[in-house]
Amino acid sequence: MTKPFFCSLVLALGLLTATAALAAEGDALDAAHTNIHDVAAMQRGARTFFNYCAGCHSLEYMRYSRIAQDLDLSEAQVMTNLDMTGDKFGDPVISAMPAADAAKWFGKAPPDLSLEVAAKGPDWVYTYLKSFYVDPTRPTGWNNTVFPNVSMPFPLWELQGVQTPVYAPARPGHDPRVEKLQLGQPGLQTPAQYDRTIRDLTTFLQYVSEPAALQRERIGVWVLLYLAVFTFLALLLKREYWKDVH
Ligand code: HEC
Repeated sequence: MTKPFFCSLVLALGLLTATAALAAEGDALDAAHTNIHDVAAMQRGARTFFNYCAGCHSLEYMRYSRIAQDLDLSEAQVMTNLDMTGDKFGDPVISAMPAADAAKWFGKAPPDLSLEVAAKGPDWVYTYLKSFYVDPTRPTGWNNTVFPNVSMPFPLWELQGVQTPVYAPARPGHDPRVEKLQLGQPGLQTPAQYDRTIRDLTTFLQYVSEPAALQRERIGVWVLLYLAVFTFLALLLKREYWKDVH
């Protein structure tokens, strides 16, 4: 076997195993199927965020005025329905909870969520929000299969209901492993409605992570059109030149 051939074989095998490992990890997450062009979904997601999350989490890089502009909301709608802290229209979204108190109460300060979806991906955030279960051994009473031993209490339990864990058969020398979650006590929403609630919430957070994406995609269409037209003109020109050469 020649050396370059051997090297590429090793490389290809390495890539294959890496992809397989990634795929295996990805399997555990549910697909969020978010669409950041669905303005109504983002409006619903924003409402859920400000009702259930903004008490603890900030969106430091996002201003109320920008949300109004991008989500087709008026200043009055944003200031009465979303802004619970009495901040000004031009202010960034800062949680009312002082980080030091939060750290004392939960053991960890709730992180800013401006870049959460950019960092973890929409599927992670979506799956995280449906993976809380009761665990009396935790100080908050909640645990999470995607984020084991998380210190966030589950704020959406009234909507989703209360999930209980089903453990995998015990293996000697291994910690007990949660195999799946069961809806022990139903919530105000059906599982399908709850999925939509957190899909909308994830869509909103995805938009917050990259507000320029909306604009960029609009510009992108024009760039592609321009390239198509330009390529066509270049082809015509080439044909014109080569006519004389032949
Ligand atoms: C009572 C306070 C509180 C509320 C309300 C709350 N969180 Fe949290 N959240 C926390 C804390 C504390 C952490 C840090 C958890 C840790 O690191 O163990 C956290 C962590 C997170 C993380 C993981 C961040 C990371 O490390 O990547 C996400 C995502 C998140 N919260 C989303 C939400 C969403 C969405 C809502 C609203 C539905 C919400 N949180 C409501 C306190 C809260």
